[in-house]
Amino acid sequence: MRPVNISRSRMVGAYLVCALAVFGAPRAVHADYHAANPCTANPCAANPCAANPCAANPCAANPCAPAPAAELSDAQAAAIYEDIAAELRAGYAKSDHPVTTAYFKWKRYNKTPYVSATHGGRYVNNFANDTAKAYGRFEKAGVMPAGSIVVKDSFRVAPANPCAANPCAASGKAQPGPLFIMEKMQAGFSPETGDWRYTMIMPNGAVFGETKGRNADKVRFCAECHGGSEYDSLFFLPEEYR
Ligand code: HEC
Repeated sequence: MRPVNISRSRMVGAYLVCALAVFGAPRAVHADYHAANPCTANPCAANPCAANPCAANPCAANPCAPAPAAELSDAQAAAIYEDIAAELRAGYAKSDHPVTTAYFKWKRYNKTPYVSATHGGRYVNNFANDTAKAYGRFEKAGVMPAGSIVVKDSFRVAPANPCAANPCAASGKAQPGPLFIMEKMQAGFSPETGDWRYTMIMPNGAVFGETKGRNADKVRFCAECHGGSEYDSLFFLPEEYR
């Protein structure tokens, strides 16, 4: 784990804008992900520390609360992921979920970790198993066959002190984030989720929830947002990271 430079103003600005996407009207926002998702291209990215329109009073609305996305270069994000990957996998594996010991051997579909506003503003990577290999065709993937598994692991780089006097000088350390799993089950498993089973595994291996399983209620929001996709509940990833 290495310290990195962070622009808090960009981070918090992105949070405020993206909070709307996450908590406001996910269906509307994601009905057409590429056209409508305000988080695809970070609206606060232009000039994070100087004329950031989102930075007016970043600590007012969200006083140092969950740091959504530290600003890293692609190379920094890749290096941090390399450092933290073993720790991530060891944590997930404590759940005994079979996917946790397999997913990182599958094909990874993003070039370097990218920020996902809809998954807590964390840096994420998307993997898919062989059965789900059509995932690589993205919007042309069609309906995934039963047995398809798509996984997103995650980490966060939080500022050491997000409300420090100079937010642009803040630095932080990488922290493991949850593992997000989508498994396509047999037809009829769960028509209301398109037969996808959503599972979220915490960095310490605790299963936060699973569709039709433990704490199914807690992962209902996954299906509510993903159900807004016109591509079999999938949203894929930003063009520039494919
Ligand atoms: C507010 C909308 C939203 C919510 C809530 C959400 N996701 Fe996602 N998810 C997305 C978007 C958008 C993408 C693709 C872009 C990205 O990674 O940010 C995605 C991508 C994924 C992927 C990669 C497959 C794909 O669609 O390309 C998995 C796996 C995933 N999410 C699992 C989950 C799980 C599990 C939950 C709940 C714990 C969840 N998601 C909650 C919007 C959401």
